[in-house]
Amino acid sequence: MRRLIPDPGPTDLESELATYRPADQDREGRPFVAVNMVSTLDGRASSQGNTKALGSDADTEHLLGLRTRFDAVMIGGGTMRAERYGRIISRPESRTRREQDGLSPDALAVIISGDLDLPFDAPLFTDGNGRVLIFTRKSEVPDTETEVDLVTIDGLIDTADVLAHLHREEGIRAVLCEGGPHLFGQLVAGDLVDDFFLTVTPVVTGGDAPRILETNLPERAEFELVGLLEADGDLFARYRRA
Ligand SMILES: NC(=O)c1ccc[n+]([C@@H]2O[C@H](COP(=O)([O-])OP(=O)(O)OC[C@H]3O[C@@H](n4cnc5c(N)ncnc54)[C@H](OP(=O)(O)O)[C@@H]3O)[C@@H](O)[C@H]2O)c1
Repeated sequence: MRRLIPDPGPTDLESELATYRPADQDREGRPFVAVNMVSTLDGRASSQGNTKALGSDADTEHLLGLRTRFDAVMIGGGTMRAERYGRIISRPESRTRREQDGLSPDALAVIISGDLDLPFDAPLFTDGNGRVLIFTRKSEVPDTETEVDLVTIDGLIDTADVLAHLHREEGIRAVLCEGGPHLFGQLVAGDLVDDFFLTVTPVVTGGDAPRILETNLPERAEFELVGLLEADGDLFARYRRA
């Protein structure tokens, strides 16, 4: 891995993330929010229905590394259906490292799904580790090995309310949102994104795959580039809300 901005030179993920402490930066009434997405050169968010064919091993490592810095990882129902998540902090050494850094060993998995039409046979629900909190319009969930709690909301689920709830009721100081395009759009529309990590992978796929943001925005949102890394041909940009 090499760093292009700032201070160009060789680097590694461990040193890049060592000083990244989003949990020390919670905002007034809500957690610090970072979003991580991978995009093709033509702005697409998936290939053949999910992200498995996008990004390199370095991108996977970057995502797993980022997760170790956050209290919670948040996704929308569409992402859970497409990606079938497992345990968020899957490596024992990462859980140990989190404890040393004052975080709980497992990150809270947060899902926003109005209809609760989720793959309850996915490893996140079946392996029995960690905890899942789902914001939904429904009031009942199937039995699962993993502890699952619901926050039932009538009508529209507002992402600002979700974040306020996580901060107030769960003590969450920092959330990593891993998409997808509709949830990302709501966060941008609500001016709720503090950091945006974008991996650009050097392929063009075309077709009708979603773009990385699929929501009408009330106005354009501006970001400033604060870091750029390269590994395996992927670019890892970090933007901050301007
Ligand atoms: N490139 C990337 O980095 C990346 C990241 C993540 C996902 N993806 C891809 O994106 C695709 C999925 O796109 P998507 O836009 O459907 O994903 P998404 O944003 O994760 O999911 C949208 C779904 O989340 C639920 N939801 C989100 N906000 C809600 C709200 N405020 N109230 C109630 N429900 C809400 C709804 O699910 P219910 O229908 O369950 O109510 C909605 O249909 C997949 O192909 C996936 O592989 C790409």
